Order: sequence, then structure tokens, then C-alpha cells
Amino acid sequence: LQKFSIKDNGCFPVSEPVKHKVLMECGSFTALFDYLSSTKSNNYFLIGDFNTGNLCLPLIGKQIKPYLIGNPLLFEAGESSKCIEYAQHIWSSLINKNAHRNTTIINLGGGMICDMGAFAASVFKRGIPYINIPTSLMAMVDAAIGGKSAINFEHYKNQIGSFHFPELVYINTEFLKTLPISEILSGFGEILKYALIANSEMWNSIKKLESINDLEKKYDEIISFCVNYKIDITSKDPNEQNIRKILNAGHTIGHAIESLFIQKNQTISHGHAIAYGLIVESYLATHLIGLSNANYEEIKTVILKFFKKITLDNSDIKPMVRYLIADKKNVGSQIGFTLIQSIGEAKINCFCTEEILNKLIIQYLYEEN
Ligand SMILES: NC(=O)c1ccc[n+]([C@@H]2O[C@H](COP(=O)([O-])OP(=O)(O)OC[C@H]3O[C@@H](n4cnc5c(N)ncnc54)[C@H](O)[C@@H]3O)[C@@H](O)[C@H]2O)c1
Repeated sequence: LQKFSIKDNGCFPVSEPVKHKVLMECGSFTALFDYLSSTKSNNYFLIGDFNTGNLCLPLIGKQIKPYLIGNPLLFEAGESSKCIEYAQHIWSSLINKNAHRNTTIINLGGGMICDMGAFAASVFKRGIPYINIPTSLMAMVDAAIGGKSAINFEHYKNQIGSFHFPELVYINTEFLKTLPISEILSGFGEILKYALIANSEMWNSIKKLESINDLEKKYDEIISFCVNYKIDITSKDPNEQNIRKILNAGHTIGHAIESLFIQKNQTISHGHAIAYGLIVESYLATHLIGLSNANYEEIKTVILKFFKKITLDNSDIKPMVRYLIADKKNVGSQIGFTLIQSIGEAKINCFCTEEILNKLIIQYLYEEN
């Protein structure tokens, strides 16, 4: 595994043992076009959403055009586009453009586009290649890496999906210049997770930030750390049988919150849901695996410095527990979590029964709401 950082010299191949490459550069797009021209193919099909189509595509538009079959396919922005109907759109367009098994989808967007494009690619003609060009901080540090594809189904987040590794992930922080601060904050939710599970030094440096606007100065070191860490973990356990579960910290509660919001027709960013999930799961961790109260209080205080508190009603408990029971990480009747053991360290395969979970969530709402 070759480590990389934006600071070195711009372009860094990471090829073994994960099958996909990550290239990272800042400013110019040289490495991307060197790569595309080296493939000697002009059979790429680009998808994006209306925001990335308007704001990100122009940065590479003229140069990328000769590589594409037809016009880019753009979707409405937002989580509700990550659905089977829009995946069907992708398949129909590919068929209309006479795509074959070497046609490569380019996902230009945040996690929504990367997840859906990867899913569409994973089953079209039993699997075609794809390239992720993440344009949000969330996608750069997490969603574009690791080969998990997904769409939402019947209020359930990421219920349908597959493992299908990208041929290339191309990261360029130039795209972040147009990303709204609310979306920077969302990516920050996932960055907090990385710090809590694996890097107490990064946590200590992050907690000193005065405001989210100061994060930009740390993009290089933070994105490099997260990408390297995720590649390392997904290389060891590509199909999430074991250590890859560590990346799910905050996500069991986080996904239940997202499902609850979808059901209520309300919106919440993925990162905000994960940040809230990290607080609630840290509360669970104090009861289930002995996370210290001091660590719990610190986690809660730091997260609430940046994120608005989410308050839940008693009527939310039942549907939330139902979503937790449907979680993909469960085993038998036990609900599975990855919990923070201490700042910078996490424990996978923490299980608890529905009964205990219900009790702890009611207790959490009573003490903390
Ligand atoms: N596959 C994985 O491993 C994985 C990991 C984490 C998250 N995810 C998924 O990723 C999604 C969340 O990702 P996200 O936060 O990037 O959401 P997103 O793709 O919906 O992007 C958020 C918003 O930012 C806009 N945007 C993106 N890049 C922009 C840019 N450069 N300039 C201006 N606007 C821009 C988008 O149009 C959208 O409105 C969720 O669906 C989540 O489930 C997947």
C-alpha cells in the first residue's frame, strides 16, 4: 500500500491490495487527463446532479468531452434521487448509447451520485467499470472510497446495494471551493468518526477549531488520513466480514435517524445524522462497553460545538427501534454496533437486545433531550 498526501507532489497511485487506484491532486487536473488518455478509450458515460453539473463539470468540461459517449446525465440533487427509478434511467441511457462491457461510468458528484452510479455500474451487464470523481468533502473522505454501492428503498437507507470497486477514484480539492458550508459540515461529521475510531491526535487538533470555516487549512492532512485509513481497512476486509465494521461507528443510530427523517419527509445531511449517531452511540458505549463518562462528555461537547442538537419525541422511539432492527449489521435478534471504547479507539461487534436498546434510548432521551 503506497501512502499519499496532497502535499508531496500531486499525484499518488494506490493500487495494492485493493483493486482500485486513488489519484489526488490540488488545483490542476493533469493527473486525471493523463489517466484518461492512457486508457485510450473514449467510452465514458458521465453522471452528476444539477449542482455538480453546473459547478464542477465546467472545471473539466472541455477537456473531458472527447472521452464521453453523449451528453452527461444529470439528476436532481439530494438523497431522494438515490433511488431505483434513477438507476433505471442510467441503464436506459447506457442502452440507448450502445454501451458495452468496457463502457465506464464517471460519477461526478457527492456520495449520492457515487453510490448510485456505482450501483448502476455493478449490475449493468453483470458489472461494468466506473470512476468516482468526488466533489463533496463527504465523498472525498468516505463515500467514493471502498467500493460500497447503494440506493435507498422504501424509506430504508442503502437497503439495495453491492460491493463493486471503482477503477479509479480521482480527488481534487478544487471542487470544494463551490461546496456550501452546510455540506462541508456534513463531511466533517464523517471526519469526526475517523478521528474517534482511529486518530486521537486528529481529534485533539479538530476540537481546537474555532469554527468550521477553519477546516480548509487542514484539508490536506485530514483527507489524506481518511483516504489512507479507509483504503487500509477495506484492503484487509473488502466485504465487511470483520475489521471493516469499524467504519460503521455512529452509523447504526445515524442511519436510523436518516430513515426516520425520510419517513417524516424532512431532510438531514448524512454527516449531521452520523454526528448525532456518534453522540447517542457513545452514550450506549458508556453502558455497554465502559466508555468513560469524561470521554462521553467530551465527544458530546465537541460535536455540539459544530452541529445543531437533534431533539426526538417519545413517538420517534418505536419507528427508530424498528429501523435499528432492520439494520444490515444485526445478527439474529441482537442489534449490532461499532462503539467508541476511548477517544481514538473503537470496538466492533458490540451487540445488545432490542429490550436493552429500547431501555437505553428511553433513558438517553430522558437524560439528554
Ligand atoms: N458508499 C459509502 O461508503 C458511503 C460512505 C458515506 C456516505 N455515503 C452516502 O453518501 C451520501 C452523502 O454524501 P454527500 O454528503 O456528498 O451527499 P450529496 O451527494 O447529496 O451532496 C450533498 C450536496 O452537495 C452538492 N454538491 C456536491 N459537490 C458539490 C460542489 N463541489 N459544489 C457545490 N455543490 C456540491 C450536491 O449537489 C448536494 O446538493 C449518502 O447517500 C450516504 O449514504 C456512502
